[in-house]
Amino acid sequence: MRKVAVIVGSLRRESINKKLAGALAKLADGKLEFHMIRIDDLPLYNADDDADPSASVRRFKGEVEACDAVLFVTPEHNRSIPSALKNAFDWGTRPRGEDSWRGRPAAVLGTSPGNLGTGIAQQHMRTIASGHSSAVMGTPLVFLKYMDGLIDDDGTITNEGTRTFLLGFVDQFAAFIDNMTGA
Ligand SMILES: Cc1cc2nc3c(=O)[nH]c(=O)nc-3n(C[C@H](O)[C@H](O)[C@H](O)COP(=O)(O)O)c2cc1C
Repeated sequence: MRKVAVIVGSLRRESINKKLAGALAKLADGKLEFHMIRIDDLPLYNADDDADPSASVRRFKGEVEACDAVLFVTPEHNRSIPSALKNAFDWGTRPRGEDSWRGRPAAVLGTSPGNLGTGIAQQHMRTIASGHSSAVMGTPLVFLKYMDGLIDDDGTITNEGTRTFLLGFVDQFAAFIDNMTGA
């Protein structure tokens, strides 16, 4: 089964994007193997450390490289992606010639209590990732407005329409990975 590196842009304990990633992992059961990859222990990117990065950076890059594809699940911070996510992405691109994203198709989605549902952050993430990943899935776009109770404590999506829509996203991502990796 294809392995997906799941990177959540929020460090918050009660993150709604973390909840969304968990719910997606449940929907993907039997189709894709989701691996949640932490980014909260990475130092701020500094090119001085490219030659001898910290253990957390090596762990992070190794975990991404052990997967076939990448899923970014991100909040929107001030109309862009959170700095923690950009920091993790930058580490993934270095050192030069050792780009952890290369050859790995990617997809982006996110949720916010706001009406635009992380749409602007996702567009930024697509721009950033498209210079590195083999391809970034264009559609379906998931700009999910989060409402209390949308995802329960077991990671079940309580709204049937949203559940079906996200199941479609997972199926399309699985097909996209197969197409892009020549399966
Ligand atoms: C620094 C900061 C900036 C934010 N900027 C936006 C924004 O631009 N658009 C938006 O929809 N929500 C914004 N929010 C609200 C987040 O959508 C909300 O906090 C959400 O719960 C974050 O996702 P998380 O629970 O996964 O951390 C911002 C929150 C913070 C802390």
